[in-house]
Amino acid sequence: MKKRILIVAGARPNFVKIAPLMYEFGRHKRLFEVVLVHTGQHYDFEMSDVFFQNLKITKPDIHLNVGSVSHAVQTAKIMIAFEHAILEQKPDLVIVVGDVNSTLACSLVASKLNIRIAHVEAGLRSFDRTMPEEINRMVTDSLSDYLFVSEKNGLRNLKREGIDPNKIYFVGNVMIDTLSANLSIINESDILSRLRLTCNEYSVVTLHRPSNVDSAETIAEVFDILRAVSRVVKMVYPIHPRTRKMIRKHKFSSKFEELGNLLLINPLSYIDFIKLVKESKFVITDSGGIQEETTSLGVPCLTMRENTERPVTIEEGTNYLVGRSKTKVLSFVKKIINGKSKNGSIPELWDGKSAKRIVKIISMIQ
Ligand code: UD1
Repeated sequence: MKKRILIVAGARPNFVKIAPLMYEFGRHKRLFEVVLVHTGQHYDFEMSDVFFQNLKITKPDIHLNVGSVSHAVQTAKIMIAFEHAILEQKPDLVIVVGDVNSTLACSLVASKLNIRIAHVEAGLRSFDRTMPEEINRMVTDSLSDYLFVSEKNGLRNLKREGIDPNKIYFVGNVMIDTLSANLSIINESDILSRLRLTCNEYSVVTLHRPSNVDSAETIAEVFDILRAVSRVVKMVYPIHPRTRKMIRKHKFSSKFEELGNLLLINPLSYIDFIKLVKESKFVITDSGGIQEETTSLGVPCLTMRENTERPVTIEEGTNYLVGRSKTKVLSFVKKIINGKSKNGSIPELWDGKSAKRIVKIISMIQ
């Protein structure tokens, strides 16, 4: 009998992670029946639909349409709607990816209904519980039956937490599967000419974490750093809706717009964004996935956070933690411009075959 697999995605980075899984399950239609659930945590065309188009993901079978509300309300709304979906679909396994509220909410529901859970990107820890994602990661991992780990630090974290080693599988990074599978299309993107940019002569900024953008004080610090960097190198900033909202709320819009060397643009599609990153001199970010994508592409990355749940990107990759220290940022920018930043290497199993490994393991589940 075919295994019935329910895959959950809700927010922008989830779509990049489910794409190779959907593809792999699609190659094994004899073994699996897959139901894709979109929670609706992200809903704007440029935060959701364009990723389905770019990555050729089939339309969701079920859409929960939860939208943006507070953490508790969002989690609760997803749980209520997802319980209906599970009771109707009766899956053998629920797959959740990453660390967003949709990941947490759907894991809670599945575990209460005694449905087995697979967590893709398990074991990552920032050890910073002020990050909503850290809570989501810890709870999801503790409820999961199959923990698919992307970097070896994840294995150590799960071991320390006493998770049964028989549940843990080191499979590599599905985000890098998506990157490898789309490289030739990425190379063809015309985003540089559309933005009138020259290869290797600009940097990319993406900042959207509450710790950086939710208060006037932190936005002021971020603004001060970006202003200083923009004096040295042209910057492009595809701006997340949360950040746009916060910049407006704290009355920083005109300040950002007045920076001559900082180009504020709407969020980009996956293909255009990766092309922009690939050809850039360096990236400044607080995203999780972008720390990994820059490591895979060999592009220097300055992460504006005090910690990372993805330490392999620092130990082996091209990533540096800079917090909101202007001195650190400027000193790394200088290093990078002088060609003195680390080259980095590709972490183990970031080889474009992670989804294959995951699907193989799932095919062996009784
Ligand atoms: C969420 C994830 C975060 C991830 C990020 C990627 C959680 C706790 N956070 O953060 O881990 O890095 O997605 O983008 O799950 N909004 C829109 N349109 C949309 C979606 C959001 O305008 O399509 C605006 C809304 O004003 C919303 C705000 O962005 O209130 C924040 O959205 P939300 O999903 O709550 O969190 P993110 O900051 O996007």
